[in-house]
Amino acid sequence: AGVSTVLEAMAAEATTCTRCRLSGGRRTVVFGSGSRSAHLMFVGEGPGAREDEQGLPFVGRSGQLLDRLLAEELGMDRADCYITNVVKCRPPENRDPRPDEIAACLPYLERQLALVDPTVVVTLGNFSSKLLLETDVGITKLRGQAYRFGDPERHLVPTFHPAAALRGGGEVMARMRADLVRAKMLMEAG
Ligand code: URA
Repeated sequence: AGVSTVLEAMAAEATTCTRCRLSGGRRTVVFGSGSRSAHLMFVGEGPGAREDEQGLPFVGRSGQLLDRLLAEELGMDRADCYITNVVKCRPPENRDPRPDEIAACLPYLERQLALVDPTVVVTLGNFSSKLLLETDVGITKLRGQAYRFGDPERHLVPTFHPAAALRGGGEVMARMRADLVRAKMLMEAG
């Protein structure tokens, strides 16, 4: 079966997922969106209220910023990338996802990575950066450079979560833009 068939089958299966307690409070499983043959994948933290309503990742305020930065720094549309999150269901009151919830959801992310097979992964914020780099180091220290991760190895560019850029203003935004340029260069280099 082709990649998109397998991804769609997995997304369909996930709509009834009860691997963790987040299934109890969700409206929609927000599995992922975009191109199944993308060279660039974004991994956020978890769905918020808007995402839970619409079933799509990054459609709220953070998503609007992501769309703008994608266009301005990469000349890309969200349809050109694949976008997903560490946890696929909205944590209640937007609390942080817990370690057991992250662990329960990780097999989905691993299979998304294997199927989409992106050249570059941009992790947005602490949760996805720490998870994929298997580190406790925080995003402020991690960002500013590219890493290799996984097997097969891929480029990983950690950056701030767009919500942090919205809160943090110009300085944070400028660093985020620089990280996206780093991702673009790695993508173009293959
Ligand atoms: N924040 C995230 O981390 N992911 C989303 O999908 C939306 C907001």
